[in-house]
Amino acid sequence: MAILNFGSLNIDHVYSFTRFVRPGETISCTDYQRFAGGKGLNQSVALAAADATVFHAGKVGPDGEQLLAVLKEHGVDSRFVAVDTIPSGHAIIQVDAEGENSIFLYPGANHAIHHDEVSSVLKHFDKDDIVLLQNEVNATDYIIREAAAKGMTIVFNPAPMTPEVLSYPLECIDCFILNETEAQGMSGGIHSDNILEDLHARFPHATIVLTLGKRGVVIAEGSEVIEVPAFPVQAVDTTAAGDTFVGYFLAEKSHGRSTTSALQIGCAASALCVGKTGAVPSIPQRADVEAFLRLHGTMLPCE
Ligand code: RIB
Repeated sequence: MAILNFGSLNIDHVYSFTRFVRPGETISCTDYQRFAGGKGLNQSVALAAADATVFHAGKVGPDGEQLLAVLKEHGVDSRFVAVDTIPSGHAIIQVDAEGENSIFLYPGANHAIHHDEVSSVLKHFDKDDIVLLQNEVNATDYIIREAAAKGMTIVFNPAPMTPEVLSYPLECIDCFILNETEAQGMSGGIHSDNILEDLHARFPHATIVLTLGKRGVVIAEGSEVIEVPAFPVQAVDTTAAGDTFVGYFLAEKSHGRSTTSALQIGCAASALCVGKTGAVPSIPQRADVEAFLRLHGTMLPCE
């Protein structure tokens, strides 16, 4: 079983501040670093770190060589990443003293994907494969439709959440992985006291994985609801914590491991991720995640 991740690739410009800049204000940052990022690329790197077979599809510009190099270096197959004349996507990220972030994006080549390019990638995959999607490339609705027509398993992380998501063929999704803000966005602005229950009622055939930040994660799968607490850690930078969870959780599930163990490994991997700055450099290796779990007295799936 292969995982095709059709997603964004960004150059992340990360600025550290004691607090976020306010409207109309000019302040100096305390540090600046540049990393490979993009929710798509981060999730591919996390999948590969967790030992999954992952193909990344998407688009970069002439400045995207470093992004391709990062994919290769981390064991992600990048043959389906096209190169365009439009600059690569980039992200401007502020990180405050609590490790929280605030991001704006220039989509660049991530928004220059044509339908015929999607079709020519998908013809290499079949119903036994998984397609993973976020919401940082254009043509996401088309990819969902085409992948569903092939009978592929579709995993959707609607991040960042936009109103357009509501017009996607969401009934084709097999698994949603989303945080509380994204889940609220999925309800079209209607407040709910139990977002998980509402989403599960709306998409009864889909698995719903709701990440709760410091509180952990809860999943509704068939008639089962499983909750796993987060590991208490001091956050330095939360960038890519969600992406790391998605990659590790999905890799474990694709290896046939139990849902509880996939959730625990995903939570452990994100706990390690928030302890380091940057997107890709903060995504841990599987051996480190296993050592962390042992340290916290959590049984590994093979033990
Ligand atoms: O999820 C973190 C990512 O969001 C960053 O790497 C940035 O590129 C944005 O896509």
